[in-house]
Amino acid sequence: MRKLDVVVLAAGKGTRMNSNRPKVLHELAGRTLLNHVLDTTEQLTPAQTAVVIGFEAEQIQLATPDTGITWVAQTEQLGTGHAVQQALPQLHDDHVALVVCGDVPLVTVATLHHAVAAAEGGEVGLVTANMQDPAELGRIVRNSEGRVQEIVEFKDANAATRAISEINSGIMAIPAGKISGWLGRLKNNNAQSEFYLTDIIAMAVADGVGVSAIGADEDEVTGINDRVQLAQVERAYQRAQAEALMQMGATIADPQRIDIRGRVTCDRDCFIDINVVLAGNVTLGADVRIGAGAVITDAQIGDGSIVQPHTVVDGAVIAKNCSVGPFARIRPGSVLEDGVKVGNFVETKKAHLGPGTKAGHLTYLGDTSLGADCNVGAGTVTCNYDGVDKHRTEIGDEVFVGTNATLVAPVEIQNGAFVAAGSVVTSTVEAGDLAVGRGKQRNIKGWTRPDQRTQQKK
Ligand code: UD1
Ligand code: CA
Repeated sequence: MRKLDVVVLAAGKGTRMNSNRPKVLHELAGRTLLNHVLDTTEQLTPAQTAVVIGFEAEQIQLATPDTGITWVAQTEQLGTGHAVQQALPQLHDDHVALVVCGDVPLVTVATLHHAVAAAEGGEVGLVTANMQDPAELGRIVRNSEGRVQEIVEFKDANAATRAISEINSGIMAIPAGKISGWLGRLKNNNAQSEFYLTDIIAMAVADGVGVSAIGADEDEVTGINDRVQLAQVERAYQRAQAEALMQMGATIADPQRIDIRGRVTCDRDCFIDINVVLAGNVTLGADVRIGAGAVITDAQIGDGSIVQPHTVVDGAVIAKNCSVGPFARIRPGSVLEDGVKVGNFVETKKAHLGPGTKAGHLTYLGDTSLGADCNVGAGTVTCNYDGVDKHRTEIGDEVFVGTNATLVAPVEIQNGAFVAAGSVVTSTVEAGDLAVGRGKQRNIKGWTRPDQRTQQKK
């Protein structure tokens, strides 16, 4: 097997995006187009990856995780052939060069493998597809024996050529030693006055180098030139993601109304209702139910747990048989152990809730740990911030916190203690004690109601 040099073309502006951002930084399923492409090419373990950048190059470098990329500058965008020419010093004659486009994000590893295999055999591996609507893509011209002869760009094509439905994906693998000779012979005497990479196909044929067309799926090689195409590719991607989850054993109420922006795995018999967004790394155990409108980011949810509708979970671990929401917000650093119940309008942040603990309504638990089987009444707030520093609230096992308690951190409530409703707790409550921290009730007899006072004035 020959080593592989990957060249990613990403210097273009993407005029039709009408954007201040370069096209390859637009996002598909929460990741930039370029990151999608790089994640795919990385799976081929290339010897190196050169990314050709020009328009807003610095923005692209800042937004791309540096996994040993060689950045190549193309200061003037004179065409795809000219772009590859800039990367020539990076290519090794005895390697295979794989050219991919930063704006074709869904190409699969399998397709790239096929193209690379053709180039390892000394041919050019050209990824093509038959399109329902080939639009303005380059057309693949074959001879009477069906052999690829050349690529003709739409703008240079006559009506007969435009009628061809097989298109160039922009992706090709080439024995690297042949490239510099071919690129050196490129001319820009065409409709766009550009140096077309696509012209090397006719050169290969003339030099007796075989061109092997690797057929790909239409969705896989759809390039993104404007935001309408971006939305179309997003839907195709989401459909595939939903299908993968269904194959893992999840029932999805409506595969058209789920969005997956990251890596999601699930165990058997999960149920995901409509309009759910799953982002980052999400793991769902068996029999997990996710209610409508939930947004779940970077979370682990254990077997049998239920995330009720319109709940936001971010950076949290929810163990088995928990129930969260509706309308709960589980923020980063939250850990909910088995059987925890967190109800509506409850917010947790860096909070550890022990097994069986419940906080049913209208509560804020921040920088807190609660032991097992506690009950937190409605309206309870941990006052974790004094305007400068954050402080912790430590609560033991089987603690009962009455409604509308204000727990001023740092503070500790030990095992089995009770906090009376409406209390402001500022100091340690020892095990088993009852804390009452509120003004005593006074009942005043014979007072005059305000409405009666005004009536007297009239
Ligand atoms: C190109 C192909 C066309 C193919 C289509 C698939 C050529 C001449 N045409 O056309 O056959 O059907 O892709 O999507 O290759 N780029 C640079 N520098 C440049 C020009 C472009 O880096 O000077 C990059 C762009 O950023 C983009 C890619 O190359 O990522 C393709 O460029 P684009 O202008 O979109 O080419 P198309 O007209 O789509
Ligand atoms: Ca394009």
